[in-house]
Parts: sequence; structure tokens; C-alpha cells
Amino acid sequence: MSDLSFEKAIDPSQYDKIEWGSKEGKPSPIRNFFIEILRKELGGHQYNSVLDIGSGIGHMFDLYKKLGFKRIVGVEPSQRNIDISKSLHSDIQVVKASFQDFKSDEKFNVATAIMVVLHLPELNSVIQKVYSLLEESGLFLIIDADVDYETKPKWGWSIEIEKQQDGNYLVSSERKYGKITSIVRPVEHFIKAAKKDSFKIVKQEPLFASDELIKEAPYYTEIRNLPLAQLFVFQK
Ligand SMILES: C[S@@+](CC[C@H](N)C(=O)[O-])C[C@H]1O[C@@H](n2cnc3c(N)ncnc32)[C@H](O)[C@@H]1O
Repeated sequence: MSDLSFEKAIDPSQYDKIEWGSKEGKPSPIRNFFIEILRKELGGHQYNSVLDIGSGIGHMFDLYKKLGFKRIVGVEPSQRNIDISKSLHSDIQVVKASFQDFKSDEKFNVATAIMVVLHLPELNSVIQKVYSLLEESGLFLIIDADVDYETKPKWGWSIEIEKQQDGNYLVSSERKYGKITSIVRPVEHFIKAAKKDSFKIVKQEPLFASDELIKEAPYYTEIRNLPLAQLFVFQK
């Protein structure tokens, strides 16, 4: 399978073949940055349940516990990531499935997808499915790849980019921990899909490196003018 292919971008076994996320669970600087974004968005409210789509090794679980969620469910297809997640958070249920195959009669107050939609084949069906899994007024928080950031060569990472007819980009980049291929979608595609399903758009904003992130990882200074990712908050 070519590295720069749609099939590779949606193949979760990519994460079985690289050293993504430390086995001890220590979040990288960018993960800490995302955790702080979620804390700001979800803190100060009393939510009961959260579905973490593509929960990885469980980076967000400690935050969800601290915020008082009583029910935390992860969905994660990579066996490596599930194994680490279980070893770090034996109390949290993680369903081994891709989100496309995930089935549940349960409804959640909050769903999150942090740097995961970039591995999902189709946006409308994802948003529609999350809508059906949320309680009335439930929130869907997405942090996902930014086109300018992902397509800019940086830090000596080797990168391959291919623009698709639908305006999305296939991007394959070789990072310290290994090569990852993603589908990078323009912001408008998310907004259009959310509106189609009658989600209310509560927030959409680019996420720029914070002072805390730059203090922890000074190499972010050189791309400070680029959004590291895009934040979306949709409400049912
Ligand atoms: C960049 S990691 C992010 C993990 C986690 N959300 C975090 O921020 O720490 C992307 C995750 O998406 C998962 N993933 C890939 N394809 C998926 C799919 N079809 N359904 C659900 N998760 C998927 C990968 O296995 C990986 O754990």
C-alpha cells in the first residue's frame, strides 16, 4: 500500500506499527496543549457521560475523571493503543472498533474526537452518527488537522502532499515516532457537514500555540503564526 493513499490514511493499523504515545502515558507538549483546550471547553459544567472517539492511549481520560464525568467510554481500533490504554486506565471501558463499526444504544452528553477525524473516510456519516449518539443538547468537540499547518514543511520532517478533487489533502509525514498518513480537510467541510445534520455551531476557531506550549516546546515558536489545529464545538 502506498504511503500517500486514502487506504493508508484510514488504516488504523498505522498506529500499531509506530511508537505513537509513550507507554508510560506521559503526554507530549501538543497533547498537553489539547488537554488544556478541552479543559477550557468542558470545565465548569456538570456532564455525566463522554464518548472519546479514537481515544488512543487514553491521554484525555485523566482530564475527564477530574472534570467529574461518571461514564467514560473510548472507541479505539489500534491494538497497540488499546493495550497501553488498558495498562494505564484499567477502570475505563475502551471498545475495540473503528468508529464506523462502533454500535451502541447508549446516548452520551459529550463526544470528543481529538485528531481522529483525519483518519475517518467520510465526514457526513461521522457527524450524522455522532448526532444519533448524543443526548438532546449534547456536545461534539472536534480538534482536527489544519490545512496550512499540515501542508507546511517543518522541522526536517519528510512530507508528501496530494490535493484531492473534493478539496481535501492527503498528507503523509515522517515524524520522530514514524510515518502517519492523514486526510486533511478544510474548515468549511466540517461546518457544512454539521449544518446538514442540524448541529448548532457553537464554536469554530483556529488553535495557535500558547505561551505554555512554547515554554514546554520552544520549537513551536517558528510556526507560531500558523494554527496547529482547528477546534469545532457542535451542539445537538
Ligand atoms: C493522533 S491519534 C489521537 C488519539 C487521541 N484522540 C489523543 O488525542 O490522544 C489518532 C487515533 O485515532 C485512531 N483511529 C484511527 N482510525 C480510526 C477509526 N476509524 N475510528 C476510531 N479511531 C481511529 C488511531 O488508532 C489513533 O489512536
